[in-house]
Amino acid sequence: MMTYDPIWDNFLFVVNDEDWKRLRAIISPTFSTGKLRKVKYYIDENIQLMSKHLDEKIANDPAVNMKQIVGGFTMDTIIQISMGIKIDSIQDPNNLIIQNAKKLFGQDISFQDLTTFALASAFPNLMEWMGRKIQPDALNFLANISKDIIKKKREEMKTKQQSQKGSNFIELVLEVEEEQKRILEQSGKPFKHINNDELIAQCVTFFTAGFDTTSSAILYATYLLASNPDKQEKLYESIIETLKKLAKERDDGCDNPYELITFESLNNFEYFNAAFNESMRSLTIVTFIERMATEDVRLETSDKKTWFDVKKGDIIRIPIIDLHNDPDNFYDPQKFIPERFLAENMSNPEKRFNKSAFLPFGSGPRKCVATNLAFIEAKIMLIHLFRLYRISLHSKTKLDFFVNFDSLIPRDIVMQVEKR
Ligand code: HEM
Repeated sequence: MMTYDPIWDNFLFVVNDEDWKRLRAIISPTFSTGKLRKVKYYIDENIQLMSKHLDEKIANDPAVNMKQIVGGFTMDTIIQISMGIKIDSIQDPNNLIIQNAKKLFGQDISFQDLTTFALASAFPNLMEWMGRKIQPDALNFLANISKDIIKKKREEMKTKQQSQKGSNFIELVLEVEEEQKRILEQSGKPFKHINNDELIAQCVTFFTAGFDTTSSAILYATYLLASNPDKQEKLYESIIETLKKLAKERDDGCDNPYELITFESLNNFEYFNAAFNESMRSLTIVTFIERMATEDVRLETSDKKTWFDVKKGDIIRIPIIDLHNDPDNFYDPQKFIPERFLAENMSNPEKRFNKSAFLPFGSGPRKCVATNLAFIEAKIMLIHLFRLYRISLHSKTKLDFFVNFDSLIPRDIVMQVEKR
């Protein structure tokens, strides 16, 4: 879909074919575990800030709007990771970066933007003729900040000695580009770099593709664990036990949870991982994905008795939410059962579990490019949240959603929070 806006038209989830291949090859390595190690420090810092805000709130009233708390954490983390700028959005809601970033999220999406999208899909040439843009002020504002960072980093890189190691997304992309350029030049292959509009677009992607999704993942898991207090107690016990085990394995006597919970140690939190997966299945965020056929193809069952012809250009929609809720794929799909994701149950034929039908991040080469980042952000935040607090439903708790294109996003939601 073309909107004739140099930023929207360069989003990784919008571009196709050769441009997509080139951009994905430059963007993917910035989300590698090695590069994400730097980001973990920001996540820890923002969890501690979130916990301070939560403590202050519950000192007055245990009924807390968890969307505000989780949204504040996700917002501060995204701004820091993408642009390297430190903000406290709960303390400073009028900050211009926050105001403009918020305009790009579902909650504030205007009727005009929705019609612009509809027009862009149906009549792309009309868009160019009308000069209509989506949230132009917010995009220009964020684009200008990104431009300044790009300019500074490119200048730094010209005089290599002064160039600091990248600590935000823009800097990491430019470093990856530089690395690839060196490798390709040595091998004699042509090198195409990422231009400024493309780079700005990827930075803005953090807000459009990364904010609502990550904060919804945290909020849904919190809601489901508050609705299932027995599972929450089991989770709490398992977190404390795993932390004790991790502390014992260290030879420096360190028992600081912020040091013990790392990207590498996340695998040890087995029950937590099961509960997080179950939450992603149970309350699906991205409800469908689509693929366009690049050639005519016949899809058929292995016995060739049933087939379906797909024509070049046809769009196939994969309804993730329906796959997640189909009793043929998961037993008792309406129930929140973290245990179904434990290794011993996944292979038990009596406990129906269809691995290929679990697609919270999509599938194949176009699978979510930032799965690692979403994991470390959401998982580390949730482990600390449930280690520190008991969260339950309140008489005012009401789970309500709004639809933002392909995603189901929760609205404000009050929960009862007490310190452990
Ligand atoms: C829990 C959080 C998240 C969920 C559930 C999620 C889910 C998804 C899904 C289902 C897709 C489509 C995949 C497909 O078509 O097969 C996708 C694509 C994408 N996501 Fe995420 N996502 C999350 C977080 C993020 C974050 C934090 C970012 C950016 C910082 C991000 C950036 C993207 C991009 C750029 C694409 C397009 C990839 C491409 O077309 O090559 N996502 N995501």
